[in-house]
Amino acid sequence: MVDIAASARSGFSRRVIGWQKANGRHDLPWQQTGDPYRIWLSEIMLQQTQVQTVIPYYARFLARFPTLSVLAGAPVDSVLELWSGLGYYARARNLHRCAQTVLVERAGKFSANPEENARLPGIGRSTAAAISVFAFGRQAAILDGNVKRVLGRCFAVESGSSAAQDERTMWALAESLLPASGIESYTQGMMDLGAAVCRRSKPACGACPLQEICIARRDGRQAELPQRQARPALPQRVSSVLLLTDGRRVLVERRPPMGIWGGLLSLPEEPGQGAEGFALRHGCRLLSTRTLAPIRHSFTHFRLIIQVLRCEVEVLSGGVSETAVEWLPLENVAAAALPAPIKRLLLAARLGR
Ligand code: ADE
Repeated sequence: MVDIAASARSGFSRRVIGWQKANGRHDLPWQQTGDPYRIWLSEIMLQQTQVQTVIPYYARFLARFPTLSVLAGAPVDSVLELWSGLGYYARARNLHRCAQTVLVERAGKFSANPEENARLPGIGRSTAAAISVFAFGRQAAILDGNVKRVLGRCFAVESGSSAAQDERTMWALAESLLPASGIESYTQGMMDLGAAVCRRSKPACGACPLQEICIARRDGRQAELPQRQARPALPQRVSSVLLLTDGRRVLVERRPPMGIWGGLLSLPEEPGQGAEGFALRHGCRLLSTRTLAPIRHSFTHFRLIIQVLRCEVEVLSGGVSETAVEWLPLENVAAAALPAPIKRLLLAARLGR
């Protein structure tokens, strides 16, 4: 437990609120609404994704799915299509399931109570708190990576016996600092400070409202705080895919609903019988092949190296027999529900321009 005097506690929130009002962000698209649906959507998109990336996705998403019931009634593929490029696709599938659950089981309404919302798909404790604060003005503590950095530095939180213990310490600290009033400005201020001032590297301590009370600054320990438990190196997996093209189209396969890139289109995995056999099975004659530079992509739990064999083919028979496989016209690549690294590869390979 981090022990803080009551005066230091109220000084903390007062400084954050004052700074947010004068220097924080006030014109983000999701700050222009009290609609719980819009706020929920923004908070899901902002999990693991930066504000500038989210803004255009948020606008497109709302244009297509203006209400919770429109989203709940849409096919999941159309949700994935609009999510394509944002990454962490489990968020999109959970978003869709969450909309359906709220519609069917909760009369289409999010609760003001964070504990109830935290039982819904894709909503963790911090996201639930942000929804309660911004949509309902409730007192609740958020704790994402940015907030952990601000708290970890200001109060010089040392790492304890386990990651779970550290998490409990941080939550208790976050809860103990909530202001008696001004929860919206306080919460936004913590997000804004973490993003713009208390940055991971080169924090702008001279612009920080906490500079007089920050222990890391006093002791010159900004670079070593917050402390973290050492993480084991991510395991690595290798996958081989085929990029079959007839010059006008590229062969893509819909991935199974579960697992990485679930439900998205992607390049088919090389099934082991070689490119020639694969091409033949799909009604094509192989003309030439070329190995492209491998793609490296990090997921939460592993790193993936994708080896790509580009295959120029001539299509002999009309259709492809497997339903999961389709020929995607190259001009449709940019708008298709493809994982970002695969889309980048196709665009960089001068396909789909
Ligand atoms: N990160 C998570 N939620 C956010 C919000 N509402 N505004 C800015 N950044 C955020």
